[in-house]
Amino acid sequence: MTVDALVFDAYGTLYDVHSVIRRCETCFPGKGTQLSQLWRAKQLEYTWQRSLMQRYVPFSQVTREALTYSCAALGLSHREHEEALMAEYLHLAPFPEVPAALERLKMKRAILSNGSPDLLDPLVHNSGFKFDAVLSVDELKIFKPAPQVYELAVKRLNVPKARIGFVSSNCWDALGAKSFGFRVYWINRSGAPLDQLGFTPDEQIKSVAHLPNAVLR
Ligand code: LAC
Repeated sequence: MTVDALVFDAYGTLYDVHSVIRRCETCFPGKGTQLSQLWRAKQLEYTWQRSLMQRYVPFSQVTREALTYSCAALGLSHREHEEALMAEYLHLAPFPEVPAALERLKMKRAILSNGSPDLLDPLVHNSGFKFDAVLSVDELKIFKPAPQVYELAVKRLNVPKARIGFVSSNCWDALGAKSFGFRVYWINRSGAPLDQLGFTPDEQIKSVAHLPNAVLR
């Protein structure tokens, strides 16, 4: 079954959030991987917590606060490195297979991300990728996986949800999108087990390189 539009998650799916490891390692030798992992985990946790608290702040602030926490937790003094580490978010490396796969997917394509425009727009611009729409939760002031976020893509693309393919490597996001009613492609690069939330993605593939075949067959 094919779809009329594809909607992509950004961080972790198109762009490698752990490409910050190199900079983290330069700032804090021996701690780069640990810092990157905690930074990402806290960043996500804060988005869910803030949505539940109804205390939205932009993803750029969430990301900065997650960095502050993570450095404190690891005993790292981060103030002098904060701007350099935050700047990494504007230049995250795309996963290597992404450009060729996007080239083969000619349907309507959008990004739907928790990223705020101050982080997301420069990142997409710097990567050179072209999308029909780059949608941010910022206008709704709540983060994924709230269903109204996925609804934003339906409204903006003017495509029924059952005809939209949603692509994410974040299992919680893939299942949020499935619960909403999209056709879902879960990019499971690490072979992680499925989160037990009562939903299953329509397709599970190892990388974005397999997406064209999964979508176009
Ligand atoms: C995104 C992150 C949360 O929404 O993966 O792009």
